Amino acid sequence: MIKEILRMGDPRLLEASQAVRDIAAPELARLVDDMFDTMHAANGAGLAAPQIGVPLRVVIFGYSDPDARNPRYPDADPVPQTILINPIIDLLTEEIEEGWEGCLSVPGLRGVVPRCAKIRYRGVDLQGKAIDRAVDGFHARVVQHECDHLDGILYPMRVRDFSRFGYTDILFPEMADADD
Ligand code: NI
Repeated sequence: MIKEILRMGDPRLLEASQAVRDIAAPELARLVDDMFDTMHAANGAGLAAPQIGVPLRVVIFGYSDPDARNPRYPDADPVPQTILINPIIDLLTEEIEEGWEGCLSVPGLRGVVPRCAKIRYRGVDLQGKAIDRAVDGFHARVVQHECDHLDGILYPMRVRDFSRFGYTDILFPEMADADD
């Protein structure tokens, strides 16, 4: 079911979310279904449970078709479709990369955000199977962005240079038909 996405200013987006205790709970599978429905309806690259008002440490991101490109991020490398529960991120380098980000909770805007260039992330999927990946580039950026939501952090809180923060249709006129 497509859920309403909370928007910046809603205090629920600023709260730290709780760890999932029961991976097998049917409510958890339903939550993940709702998150995919909601993310796909909005053409998002990822979504975190608190964005639909559920304060649990669950994020989803990526695409089932490995050749798919998100229309909102046409130049990005494909990211495998992933359900990540109770994630842990380790930073693998001190190198910081800048890149444009948007967020379904901050519609219509984009900003340049500095992120760690290479990370390892771990967690479990909906079957309780371990996920353990070392990634860089856009994949690393998406994971850091989504996991930030679990700690109540929205990307504008990480923008350093506000001369590179603005309305998507002004910054990128060729993307004027983007959903947010
Ligand atoms: Ni976001």
